[in-house]
Amino acid sequence: MGFETIFRMDGRVALVTGAGFGIGRSLAQGLAEYGAHVICADRDLPGAEETTAMILDAGGVADAIFVDVAQTQSVDGLFGEIARMTGKLDILINNAGISTGPKRLHELAIEDWDRLMGINLRGVFLCSRAAIPMMLEGGSGSIINIASIAGLVGYYPGSARLCANYAASKAGVIGLTRQVAIEYARDGIRVNAIAPGWHGGTRLGGARLAALSPEELARLEKMINDRIPMGHRGVPDDLVGLAIYLASSASSYVTGQVIGHDGGWSAE
Ligand SMILES: NC(=O)c1ccc[n+]([C@@H]2O[C@H](COP(=O)([O-])OP(=O)(O)OC[C@H]3O[C@@H](n4cnc5c(N)ncnc54)[C@H](O)[C@@H]3O)[C@@H](O)[C@H]2O)c1
Repeated sequence: MGFETIFRMDGRVALVTGAGFGIGRSLAQGLAEYGAHVICADRDLPGAEETTAMILDAGGVADAIFVDVAQTQSVDGLFGEIARMTGKLDILINNAGISTGPKRLHELAIEDWDRLMGINLRGVFLCSRAAIPMMLEGGSGSIINIASIAGLVGYYPGSARLCANYAASKAGVIGLTRQVAIEYARDGIRVNAIAPGWHGGTRLGGARLAALSPEELARLEKMINDRIPMGHRGVPDDLVGLAIYLASSASSYVTGQVIGHDGGWSAE
C-alpha cells in the first residue's frame, strides 16, 4: 500500500540539459508534472525559456539557465547558479547531445569528432562531476544519461546514418554510466542510462534531413520504420514514463542499467 505516490518528485530539484527542444523538453515537462522543480539548461537559452514558460503555464516550477555542457566554465556557472537558487540537486538528466554529418569513418572530419565528443561525452562527465558533490551533500540522487541504441549496436544500411563518432560517444556514456553507478552505489546516488532508438520530432540531424528531397526523406523513413520491430518511430513524449521511473523512488533499487527505448530495435 502507499504506492500511488512513488513516482512523485515534489520538493526535488531536477536539472535537464538540452531542455530547450526535443527529448529534453518532454522530459523537463514530465518531471515538472510529477512535482519536481526543473532547471531547464541549454545553449539555446530562448529554447530553454520557452520550455520553462510551458511548464509555468501548466502550473509547474521551472527556471531557465544558459549552459554549454562542453565548456568547463559554463558548467561551473550553471551549477553555481543552481546552488544559489535552490541549494541542492536531486536529479540530473544528461540529455544535451548532437550528431554530425553522415560520413563513414575515413571521411569523418577530426573537428566533427572533437566537437561531438565534447558535447556528448565530455558534457556528461562535466555535468555529473559537478552534480555529484551536491548529491553527496543531500545524501541521495538520480542521474539519467541519455545514450542511444547507437552505443549498443551498429547500423549501416549502405550509407552512414549512425556515425562512428556518435556511436563511440554513446558507448562511452554507457561505460561511464556503469562505472559511476558502482562508485556511488553506497552513497544513495543511482546512475542509469536510457538508450533511445529513433524518435521523430526533434532537431537531431535536422540540417541533414532538411537537405533531403521529399522522396529521399520518405525512403529514409520507410527504411528506418522497416528496421524497427514495432514498425514505427517513437516521439519524445514516449520517453517521459521511463524517465520519471528512473528519476523517482519507483526505481530505488535500480542502478547501473542501460534501458533500451527503441520499439525492439536492440533486441534483434
Ligand atoms: N531523437 C532521437 O532519435 C535520439 C535517439 C537516440 C538518442 N538521442 C539523444 O537524445 C538527446 C536529445 O536529442 P534530441 O533528439 O532531442 O535532439 P535536439 O537537437 O532536438 O535537442 C538537443 C538539445 O540539446 C541542446 N544542446 C546541444 N548542444 C548543447 C550544448 N553543448 N550545451 C547545452 N545544450 C546543448 C540543443 O540546443 C537542443 O535544445 C541527445 O543526447 C541525443 O543524442 C536522440
